[in-house]
Amino acid sequence: MDIPPLIWNYLHTLGISELYAPQVKALREWMPGKNLILAIPTAAGKTLVAELIMVITILNQGNERRGKALYLTPLKALATEKYHSFKDHWVSFGLTITFSTGDFDHIDQALFSHDIIVMTNEKADSVLRTHPDLMQRITCIVVDEIHLLNDETRGVTLELVLTKIRKLTPTVQIIGLSATINNAGELASWLDAILIQDEWRPVKLKEGVFYDHKIAFADGSEKIFTYPIADPMELLLKDTVKGGGQVLAFLSTRRNAMVAAKKFTHVIEPLLSEEIRHHSLQVANDFENLETENSPQAHQLAGLLQFGVAFHHAGLTYAQRTFVENHFRQRNILAIAATPTLAAGINTPARRVIIKGLERFSMAKGNQEIPVIEYKQMAGRAGRPGFDPYGEAVIIARNPTHSDELMEKYVRGTPEDITSKLNNEAELKSHLLGTIASGFVRSWEEVIAFFNLSFFSFQNKMNLKQPTRKKAKITKDESIVSSGEDYSKYVRNYGDVGSYSIQKVVSREKKLEERLHDALSYLISEKMVQEGEGGALEVTLLGQKISQLYIKPESAVEFRATLRVISQRRAMHDIKLTTISFLHATSRFPDSYLPYVAETDKDGLCKFFQDHANEFVFPRKLRPTSSDLEYYFPELKLCAILFRWIRETPEERLASDLNVGSGDIRRFVETAEWLVHAAEVLCPSFHFTKWETGLKRLAIRLKYGCSEELVSLVSIYNIGRVRGRILFKAGYKTPDDVSRANDADLIKLPTFGPEIVTRIKQSLATGIMKIHIPRSESKLQTSNELDSNPRGKKPKKRGGTERALF
Ligand SMILES: Nc1ncnc2c1ncn2[C@@H]1O[C@H](COP(=O)(O)OP(=O)(O)OP(=O)(O)O)[C@@H](O)[C@H]1O
Ligand SMILES: [Mg+2]
Repeated sequence: MDIPPLIWNYLHTLGISELYAPQVKALREWMPGKNLILAIPTAAGKTLVAELIMVITILNQGNERRGKALYLTPLKALATEKYHSFKDHWVSFGLTITFSTGDFDHIDQALFSHDIIVMTNEKADSVLRTHPDLMQRITCIVVDEIHLLNDETRGVTLELVLTKIRKLTPTVQIIGLSATINNAGELASWLDAILIQDEWRPVKLKEGVFYDHKIAFADGSEKIFTYPIADPMELLLKDTVKGGGQVLAFLSTRRNAMVAAKKFTHVIEPLLSEEIRHHSLQVANDFENLETENSPQAHQLAGLLQFGVAFHHAGLTYAQRTFVENHFRQRNILAIAATPTLAAGINTPARRVIIKGLERFSMAKGNQEIPVIEYKQMAGRAGRPGFDPYGEAVIIARNPTHSDELMEKYVRGTPEDITSKLNNEAELKSHLLGTIASGFVRSWEEVIAFFNLSFFSFQNKMNLKQPTRKKAKITKDESIVSSGEDYSKYVRNYGDVGSYSIQKVVSREKKLEERLHDALSYLISEKMVQEGEGGALEVTLLGQKISQLYIKPESAVEFRATLRVISQRRAMHDIKLTTISFLHATSRFPDSYLPYVAETDKDGLCKFFQDHANEFVFPRKLRPTSSDLEYYFPELKLCAILFRWIRETPEERLASDLNVGSGDIRRFVETAEWLVHAAEVLCPSFHFTKWETGLKRLAIRLKYGCSEELVSLVSIYNIGRVRGRILFKAGYKTPDDVSRANDADLIKLPTFGPEIVTRIKQSLATGIMKIHIPRSESKLQTSNELDSNPRGKKPKKRGGTERALF
C-alpha cells in the first residue's frame, strides 16, 4: 500500500520513528475501500492506524472528491480526548476536525463541512434519524471500542447505526477497533472486513493476583514484599511511588474509591518533597476554582490533591474528572482511586493498576462478577507507551482460594464472545420508530429485510421470516380518566432507567420478528406510525417528533396520559398545577435518570410529598415503609432535587442534603431539561398548547438552576445563576437594566471584575443572547400556571424552608 509522503511527514513530526508490528500488519493488509477489524491488545496503538486510514481516505489522492471521516466513540470523554489529539496532529497539515456529542434534536449542518467528525454512537444515531443525507457524505467510519456491541442497551444503538450506514452508503469503509475478543472473526465476517488480530503489546503488561504480601503473576513468577503494611493497596501504592511510578486503583463503588483515596494520602505524604508539596497545593487551589460552585465532594477532593492523590467517579463534574485525568498525565497526581468509569480507551500513565472488587451491583441481579473483557480494559490502563517501561495489573484477593479463582477467571481468562443484544424489547420500539422515521424502511417486508442485515441475524444464522401482520388497534383519543379513578394504572412500564436500573431480563425465546411485530403494532396503535395503502408504513408527525427528540415512544405515551389526567383533575379543581407537577411528571418518563434512594431519605421525601400533595399529578398514599413503591421514591427524590435546583439551592447544600455528587446533579438536570423540552415540543400533538411557554421557561430554569425572575438575566453571556442573583439583588433585573448600568457600579459587585464587565457589556451591545426567552406576554401565564412562587411575591428566603424539606 502506498502511504502518502504527508503521512510519513506526520509520523516524523509526532516523533514516531517506526510503526508497531500490528500497525504495520494492519496497514499492509488494509486496502482502500476495504473494511477492517483491528482486534489487538490495549495500548497497541489502534488509534494511530485509524488516523492514518482516515487521512488516506480523506486525501483520496488521485481522485477528485475529498473523503470525509467519522470517528465514533462510546463515551463523551473519549470523544473529547480524540478530538483534541486529532486536532494537535492534523490541523497543521490542513485538515479540519470537529466534534459533537450533545443536543440530540439539533444538528448543526456545518459539522459536516469538516474532514474528521468525532461523535458518540448515540449522536450518530440521532443524525441518522434527522439527516441521513448528511451521513451519506461520510466515506470512512471508525468505530472505537466496537466490542460495545455486547452492551445490553447501548450495543443495540451501535449495531443499528452500523446497519443503517452500510445500507445507506454500501461503499463506506468501516474500521472497527476492538480489544482482544474471542469471536473477532465473526464480527469481521458480518462487516465483510479484513481481520487483524495480534497479542503483541508495545509495553509489557504483567498481570497477577496479590495475597498476603505476594503478587503471583500469570507467568508463574512472584514478587514478595517486606514492607510492614497490612493493607494490600497501601503496600502496593508505597512500593510503586517509591520506585518512581504512579498508581491507578479501581474500586467497585464511589464510596470505596473515596475511602481508599483518603488512605492513600497517609502513604504518600511522607514521600513528597517540599517542592512537590508546594506544587500540589497550587493544583488543589486550581481545582477549587474550576467550577463556580463546589460540592462537599469537590472540597474533599481538593484536600486530597494537596497530597498528590485523587478520586475519580461519575459524581464529579466532567470538568473535574478531566482535570484529574490531565494532572495524572502530567504526573502532578501520583495516585487515583477510581470507579471503573475511567477504564475504557483512556491513556493514563499508571505503572501499576490495582483492582479491588470485581463485582458490580444491579437491582435485578444483585452482586455479580464483571465480564473478563471489562477487567482487561482496566488492566490495560497500565503500561502505556511513552509513560512507563513496563506495567503491572494486580487484583487483590481475599483468601488463597479467591486468589486461585481470580487467576483462572480473569488473569488467565479469555474475554467473552460479543453477542448481539438486538432482541431486546425495551430498545426495539424506539429503534424501529427511528428506522421508519428516517425512511430506511417503508413496509413490513422492508423492516424484515433491514433487520436481516443486522449482526443479530448474522450471528444467529437466521433469515427473519415474516409473520403475518395482525392489524394493530389504534388507541382511542377520548379522555380516559374519570373522577376518583385509580391513577396507578398509568404508572409506567419500566425498562432500563439510568442509575436506578432494573435490567429487564430479556427472554430470548421470543423471536426477533415477533418482537418487531409487537413493536410495530405498538407504534401503530399509539399513532406514531400509520399503515397506508398496500401496507406502506409512514411515520406520523407525532412519530417524527419523538424520533427527532430521541426519546422513547413510551415517554411520549406517559406524557399524553399525564396531560389527560391533568385536564380531568383541573376540571374537578382537584390539582394545583405548579413546576412540581411537571418536574414530577417528567421524572416518571422511562427516559429519566433516577437517583438512588437511601432508607434515610424516605422521611424527608414523605414530608416533601405532604407539603406539595395537591401539586402531584399522580399522588400516592406514601409512608417511609411503603415497599410497593419501588420507583415512586426515586421519582420523588429526582423531583425534589430538580425543584430545589431551580430554586437556586447552592450545589453544595443540595449535594450534602441529598447525598448526590455534582456530576449526578448535572446529569439529572441535563436529562430533565431534555425531557421537559421534549414535553414542550409534544404539547401541540396532544392538543395541549397552554403550557408550551411555561415548559420552555422551565427548561431554561433547569439549565441554569435559577428562579423564574432570573430567566432573562441568565440569557446574558457570562451570567449564570450566581451572578444573576447578585445583579438582581443589586436592583438590575433585566438585560436592559444591565445595559444601562454604570460599568464602575457593576465592577464593584462580588464575582464581577473589569474583565467580566467588559465582556458582558460587549455581548449586550451585539444583542446576541445565550438563549431565546419566550415572549413576555406569556410570562404571566407561566408564573400563574406553572410556578408556586408567583412573580411579584417576595421570593422565599433561601435556607430555612428548603432545608426543612429534608
Ligand atoms: N508507533 C508508535 N510509536 C510510539 N508510540 C505510539 C505508536 N503508536 C501509538 N503510540 C502511542 O501509544 C499510546 C497508546 O495508543 P492508543 O491509545 O491508540 O491505544 P489503543 O490500542 O487504542 O488502546 P486501548 O485499547 O486501551 O484504547 C498512545 O499514546 C499513542 O500515541
Ligand atoms: Mg483506544
